[in-house]
Amino acid sequence: MFERLDRLSPDPILGLMAAFRADTDPHKVDLGVGVYRNDQGDTPVLQAVRKAEQAVLARQTTKSYVAAAGNPGFNQAMERLVLGSEHAALTSGRVRTIEAPGGCGALRLGAELIKAASPDSVVHVSTPTWANHIPLLSGCGLKLERYPYFDAATGGIKFEAMLSTLDKLPPRAVVLLHASCHNPTGADLSETQWRELLALFKSRNLLPFIDMAYQGLGTGIVEDAFGVRLFCNELPEVTVAVSCSKNFGLYRERTGALHVVSETVNAADAVLTQLVRIARSIYSMPPDHGAAIAYEILDNSGLREMWTDELTIMRKRIQGLRRDAVQHLRQTCPQRDFGFIESQRGMFSYLGITVEQVRELQSRHHVYMTDDSRINIAGLRRENLEYFAHAVAKVLSA
Ligand code: LMR
Repeated sequence: MFERLDRLSPDPILGLMAAFRADTDPHKVDLGVGVYRNDQGDTPVLQAVRKAEQAVLARQTTKSYVAAAGNPGFNQAMERLVLGSEHAALTSGRVRTIEAPGGCGALRLGAELIKAASPDSVVHVSTPTWANHIPLLSGCGLKLERYPYFDAATGGIKFEAMLSTLDKLPPRAVVLLHASCHNPTGADLSETQWRELLALFKSRNLLPFIDMAYQGLGTGIVEDAFGVRLFCNELPEVTVAVSCSKNFGLYRERTGALHVVSETVNAADAVLTQLVRIARSIYSMPPDHGAAIAYEILDNSGLREMWTDELTIMRKRIQGLRRDAVQHLRQTCPQRDFGFIESQRGMFSYLGITVEQVRELQSRHHVYMTDDSRINIAGLRRENLEYFAHAVAKVLSA
């Protein structure tokens, strides 16, 4: 029967990773996959992770199963990281957490939970959204629709259009929001906009599903969680998918969590039983190693401080690169305003060039980005910024 299957083209982001690896040009620049890189172009294991890993391995006496909901210490530490330790949703006992195989696993668990609770739910995603949101969320049978979000003319958000679309949704419609560091555009909601959105979610009785994959890489650990904390404080039900890939650099360990706030403690208990059943039916139990490391870091004040410092270095490097990229582009492309790159947050921005120009950047200049011209800012380096800016100028003037 397998001969009936069509051969599929690779996932656009993963396909780009493979193409970059195969390119032997010494000037090649990888602005494709969303992986943090330092100024040497490496994605090193964080010191806090290395130390935590040593401690975990030294203590570990068994590789026996943990549990379908994962490591309880990790789950609680993540709740406190995401919500803050005194958050009302936590103290009222309405949050339940399941460890997940990465942020993707958390997103899929959230989608499956929504499907179980309300099979006809429609999930509304921003235009644009992270490419993998589509298969992850629709893969369990949920229908997806779109709401306006990115304003290419300003590099900001079409907030009025977003509000006006969401204002027409039926009660209980699910809306996927990016907590911070919007992927792929870098255009984030301001605190004022989060508050306005909250009023709309309350009045329309909408259900937020928030993806937080970059906590600490935008403005700060607390600042990046502003919308999540606000919504979880003010709304009866919120679903939050969290990833430890980027902020802990635990990419390949597949470490994440799904936090669900329910209206009552009883409902919260029921939610956890559902999540455990869903997880059991897909992959049984999440991997433990990354979660054990993240827990060790969050639970040990010395390691936590070390991690926070390393995260700050990563964040500041990205912010600095945003400034430097704008300066270089100003010199090489004075006819075009790239200033929006500096005001955006997190790892990504849209360069705002055509797919033909993207392809030319790749084929002629060995600069890799996705077809929609999303660039991973952290892939830039002091030594390749000038090369990048000149390459952009060349394709723009061609
Ligand atoms: C990205 O957006 O590039 C990252 O989140 C990695 C991925 O899996 O797509």
